[in-house]
Amino acid sequence: MQSPDLRRDAPAYHRNIGPITEVLSTILPTVPGDAMEIGSGSGQHIVSFGRTFEKLTWWPTEFAQENISSIDAWRINERSTKVQPAVRLDASLDDWQLGAHGRPPTKLDAIFTANVIHISPWTVCSGIVGGSSRHLKSGGHLIFYGPFFRDDHPTAPSNLAFDQSLRSRDPEWGIRQLSAIVDLAVAQGFNKPSIVEMPANNLIVAFEKAK
Ligand SMILES: C[S@@+](CC[C@H](N)C(=O)[O-])C[C@H]1O[C@@H](n2cnc3c(N)ncnc32)[C@H](O)[C@@H]1O
Repeated sequence: MQSPDLRRDAPAYHRNIGPITEVLSTILPTVPGDAMEIGSGSGQHIVSFGRTFEKLTWWPTEFAQENISSIDAWRINERSTKVQPAVRLDASLDDWQLGAHGRPPTKLDAIFTANVIHISPWTVCSGIVGGSSRHLKSGGHLIFYGPFFRDDHPTAPSNLAFDQSLRSRDPEWGIRQLSAIVDLAVAQGFNKPSIVEMPANNLIVAFEKAK
């Protein structure tokens, strides 16, 4: 749905913002710093984070140009001083061009991404881990929200069906195996993650860059 002022409304946002905010409040720093979102979508999450976690400066990024317009429309509507203008970022690239004019700084305290890595090729997931390893400060947080497959947990039928529908839309998409992400992240300087079970068979997977 798109209102005349370009603000898109993502229905899932209304269901997940409460539980996500609750978990982030146990992870994010309470002192000033910089947090970036990858694949900000409509922009509703990051505008809400800017309101709740006001010590942090929030940097929205997006792959799709049409989402950048929505993020900025929400940001302007909110008159947010804590959310920066959205910039284009393809997380699969080796160089995120951070630190360039108007772009997020090269060293970040947190990187958050929701519902991105299963609706994009694996190179986006590996790019997020690699870029986060380069750009998070020691002790910084890389936080994923969404569905995952876990080796030691039964798969919910709804996630299995969702995975099949994703793969039929694009064979490079699909719910990721959590152990593959953990292996990648640990090899690139992250500690083993904290995992929080969320409503509707989603998880928050929160890595800390080793100090
Ligand atoms: C299902 S939407 C999720 C949007 C939002 N995070 C949310 O939870 O409502 C998937 C997002 O992944 C983004 N995406 C796809 N490929 C990407 C890439 N290569 N780099 C960064 N983001 C990407 C899309 O542009 C889109 O915003």
